[in-house]
Amino acid sequence: MDTKQLKDVFQQHYGTPDAIYSSPGRINLIGEHTDYNGGFVLPGAIDKGITLAIKANGTDKVRVFSLDYNETAEFGMTEADKPAQSWAKYIFGVVREIEKRGKTVKGFDAAFYGDVPLGAGLSSSAALESAFAFALNDIYALGLKRYDLALIGQATEHNYVGVKCGIMDQFISIFGKKGRLLSLDCRSLNYEFVPFDPAGYKLVLIDSCVKHELVNNPYNRRRESCEAVVAAIRKHHHPYVQFLRDATFEMLEEVKDEVSAEDYMRAEFVIGEVQRLLDACAALEKGDYKTVGQKMYETHTGLSKLYEVSCEELDFLNDCAKKYGVTGSRIMGGGFGGCTINLVEDAKYDAFISGTVADYKAKFSIDPKVYDVVISDGARKIE
Ligand code: GLA
Repeated sequence: MDTKQLKDVFQQHYGTPDAIYSSPGRINLIGEHTDYNGGFVLPGAIDKGITLAIKANGTDKVRVFSLDYNETAEFGMTEADKPAQSWAKYIFGVVREIEKRGKTVKGFDAAFYGDVPLGAGLSSSAALESAFAFALNDIYALGLKRYDLALIGQATEHNYVGVKCGIMDQFISIFGKKGRLLSLDCRSLNYEFVPFDPAGYKLVLIDSCVKHELVNNPYNRRRESCEAVVAAIRKHHHPYVQFLRDATFEMLEEVKDEVSAEDYMRAEFVIGEVQRLLDACAALEKGDYKTVGQKMYETHTGLSKLYEVSCEELDFLNDCAKKYGVTGSRIMGGGFGGCTINLVEDAKYDAFISGTVADYKAKFSIDPKVYDVVISDGARKIE
């Protein structure tokens, strides 16, 4: 799909669009499940995302056509108007969250498509939220800042989707810059751009093409574990500890008998991961990609054994990376399926890709997908 097709479809349904906007998905080099723990993350926007065409329609209704689902949703803009289609809830949520901030959105027509693979852990949902937040802010001149747009996307997940996510995905989708990773302190929301051009290496994603739908919202459950450990640590005369980011392994040890074994493991991962990101950033500054890669492998082990968000397929892909001499590899994003992110020396790239594709197919009868990572710009108007 491309913008020409998007405009044609828009024309058929609603006439000529006022403007076209696009907002990307993301990768994250390291720093997983640290965002809602007040820690750091190191994401980059990618060259895949959501593109939408939009026009004010002079009513108090929203009409949206999804090219991917070949489906229309129509809904009003009050709290009682929540649409039935799950994809439309993201757009409805964005409208509601804008209104909650005292701004008025009027009715609009929109059509959109995505080329972020769904369920691959590349944040297609944040791309959708950011695209609409950015577009509505622009066409109605609402004067919302980029920070507000990211927070609107996150609040949409919390209040209209039911995922208590951190801020990473929406932030990078809005703020991303071509050729740069973004080092974000998720407690203060201070950030800086980090040039990323590892000479002699490639960054590549291998998509396991599995998404394990688990009951009882395991993502939210992980967050609750982290909060339970923080509450226990605070009782031990450490009132300044607001997030696991502020905690040490010594503090965790103090509360070992007061938290469940599961919560302990979760916190052990997060406290280690906060430090791993800092170590990886220091190594990046020196161009020491071997250390960056080693940290990525350590993150994978932690996500698999302590945080327990990996699965057989992703552990297998991680083993393939080791087998083919890849410098660094780990599961990326929330977990339970999706992609591994791999830092691979140029000379080893071809053998890694062909070997892994064949091994994975032989083991699971699935053709994994391969995406080269191109670090790209965040939300923008394209026409
Ligand atoms: C999902 C969430 C993010 C973050 C990652 C894990 O992508 O949306 O906020 O927590 O998982 O790092």
